[in-house]
Amino acid sequence: MVGNNTPVFFIRDPLKFGDFIHTQKRDPETNLKSPTMMWDFWSLSPESLHQVTILFSDRGTPDGYRHMDGFSSHTFSLINSKNELFYVKYHFKTRQGIKNFDRDSAEVMKGKDPDYAQRDLFDAIGKGDFPKWKVSIQIMPEKEAETYHINPFDLTKVWPHGDYPLIEIGELTLDRNPENYFAEVEQAAFEPKNVVQGMGYSPDKMLQARLISYPDAHRYRLGVNYDSLPVNKPQCPMHNYSRDGAMRFDGNFGSAPNYEPNSFDGPKEDAAYRERPRAIAGSVDRHNHRLDSDYYTQPGNLFRLMTKDARERLVGNIVSSLINAPREIQERQIRHFYKADPNYGGGVATGLGLKTEGVMNGELATAGD
Ligand code: HEM
Repeated sequence: MVGNNTPVFFIRDPLKFGDFIHTQKRDPETNLKSPTMMWDFWSLSPESLHQVTILFSDRGTPDGYRHMDGFSSHTFSLINSKNELFYVKYHFKTRQGIKNFDRDSAEVMKGKDPDYAQRDLFDAIGKGDFPKWKVSIQIMPEKEAETYHINPFDLTKVWPHGDYPLIEIGELTLDRNPENYFAEVEQAAFEPKNVVQGMGYSPDKMLQARLISYPDAHRYRLGVNYDSLPVNKPQCPMHNYSRDGAMRFDGNFGSAPNYEPNSFDGPKEDAAYRERPRAIAGSVDRHNHRLDSDYYTQPGNLFRLMTKDARERLVGNIVSSLINAPREIQERQIRHFYKADPNYGGGVATGLGLKTEGVMNGELATAGD
């Protein structure tokens, strides 16, 4: 569970993850960050509109880690003692209050102290001012997932709180700094597959991909025994038959057999730790990321919820980035903003000096033409 500071993501098809990440890195020719790459990909992937709206809104530039909310983003599941399954989304609400940078103050801070967020968190914990988050979940009974009007496993969508209200379950406190950054942070290997009994996954394809992808990255980054490092290893005695491999430096279960079942009193498979099978239906079963998605309602609702000032800052942030992309890409992206809300598309078009007439049929003209 990462607690990312946004409830949704840019894509809902994990096959597109590598492409998306390339657009956030550097241009292969110039080795520079490229607004053209970013906006080209986003404008051709309208499912990104919700996340793009959040990213360029005030919430996209939090004033350090302590002042932002966190989200599981993905749908997970909880299974009770009667073996009933419920789908859940996790929310971590900051007790410190939301605080964000605006574009100008973020620019200044980037030059003044590029380590601002790290310093702020370390110093606060160091002096005993422990940051806290209220932890809540949204719960959807398994059966409702089949008929709910929004695909509950679509990572580009939220579950409206009116349908699935937040239920408080606890508090998260960060109460200790690492003593050694390399040992406890650089070598940390987080992965969504690390869940305790009673927690499970969901058919969200992005989550499914992450279940495999993170361990793979850890094996490459840290080595095959990454989960035996002190910061990653289970805190209780653990018995399984995954052993050996490079850099295995503990007793490694000595001469005990390394297979199961065996006749020599080795640990036995515990069926209680197996997620129960579930029926799969509809778009959960066969998932075409280009079908069954409404790209525009939720980003439009978010825009309409913003105050006038917040909308102006959103549009200003977008314009300052999109202005560096070619005209054809600007126009394609404006059409998405326009479909979410005419004031959204119109604001960005005006900011870029483009007329909005004809926006829906691709005939944007330069203002004054
Ligand atoms: C198909 C989708 C995704 C794939 C394949 C993917 C894959 C990865 C991989 C391989 C890493 C590096 C892990 C490591 O070496 O420790 C990573 C880092 C990370 N991912 Fe993802 N990811 C995906 C989507 C997401 C989503 C949806 C979120 C948030 C909900 C997320 C949050 C993060 C975070 C916070 C990091 C750590 C970055 C850092 O170390 O600074 N990822 N991802």
